[in-house]
Amino acid sequence: MITMVAKRLLNFDNFEIMDILSKAQNLEREGKDVIHLEIGEPDFPTPKPILDEGINALKENKTHYTDSRGIVELREKIANKYFLEYNIDVDINNIIITGGSSLALFFALSSILDEGDEVLIKLPTYPCYKNFIRFLGAKPIYFKNLEELEKKVNKKTKAIILNSPSNPTGEVLEKEIYKFAYDEIPYVVSDEIYNGLVYEGNCFSAIEFDENLEKTILINGFSKLYSMTGWRLGYLISNSEIIDSCLKLQQNFFISAPTISQFAALKAFSSETEKYVKEMIKEFDRRRRLVLKYMKEFNWKVGNPVGAFYVFPYIGRDGKKFCEELLNKKYVALSPGEEFGCKYNIRISYSNKYERIKEGLERIMEYIE
Ligand SMILES: Cc1ncc(COP(=O)(O)O)c(C=O)c1O
Repeated sequence: MITMVAKRLLNFDNFEIMDILSKAQNLEREGKDVIHLEIGEPDFPTPKPILDEGINALKENKTHYTDSRGIVELREKIANKYFLEYNIDVDINNIIITGGSSLALFFALSSILDEGDEVLIKLPTYPCYKNFIRFLGAKPIYFKNLEELEKKVNKKTKAIILNSPSNPTGEVLEKEIYKFAYDEIPYVVSDEIYNGLVYEGNCFSAIEFDENLEKTILINGFSKLYSMTGWRLGYLISNSEIIDSCLKLQQNFFISAPTISQFAALKAFSSETEKYVKEMIKEFDRRRRLVLKYMKEFNWKVGNPVGAFYVFPYIGRDGKKFCEELLNKKYVALSPGEEFGCKYNIRISYSNKYERIKEGLERIMEYIE
């Protein structure tokens, strides 16, 4: 007998990026030289100081459960980040460390959503949000800009998910969206996983609009800025009511976030690690400029991708078909825009070596011509 929960899971949309990745890997097995521009994680290794700290943690047998909220030292370092960057005092009891920001998102939405609630999501969007929402019996409602957002808020609206810098566009959100959200919507779930990966101008953190964390559930993690995707480490910052609910989920379903990863991440905020991060940011920016140069040549419209490591051009034709053909004919793997809610776009991830990206773009040029 299939349960309601299983039915909801089976209704999740297909993960097309994974399909592309497995097709690309099949071609590689056949000996084809595939260029990967579809991957959603940094290609840089985890910075050595973090890696070494992880190895030390293992050697020192720090291999047992931790406090369900996460180790105090790491929560202190996270609180200190928000103090240094935004001059805001965050109590360490308002922080919970999780197994990746994915889990933090799940904790957040599980804590606030009831059946039938509506959650606003800006298009294009990270594909998992809608699935989390549907899983909880709530409804994703999409908007493209402030004007549409204003029209879509109603009595059923429980939350908005903001993601800045954005996956897939690399753009940052304007102040007006935050202001409207805080004025009109009960909860603001702010996914700031690309926080710090900004190459031009600045990017807001939701905490700047709500120092007392009345409506904010801030989500961040170590996957992107510290190239730690496989360590599965994220965190959530919110008021005590939300934290208490998250804590119940953590204690019962997960006990604690990975211990070795928590100790390793203590080095993420060190000056030694900062050098690695700065180098990574410099290189991402160099690659971003290269991609943007080609976008102009292709006459593909992009917005203002100043962050993360993605560009999301409108290509004026079916993105899925384009990605399939490009992979089969030119062995370049890209992500179809449909996955992110925009059929006529594609996502280019510049998380690959500069020369490989260039070669990939040249192959796209040949294909278009
Ligand atoms: C917007 C966004 N949020 C969350 C995640 C999940 O990150 P984590 O590795 O911290 O679970 C990703 C990963 O690609 C992402 O792009």
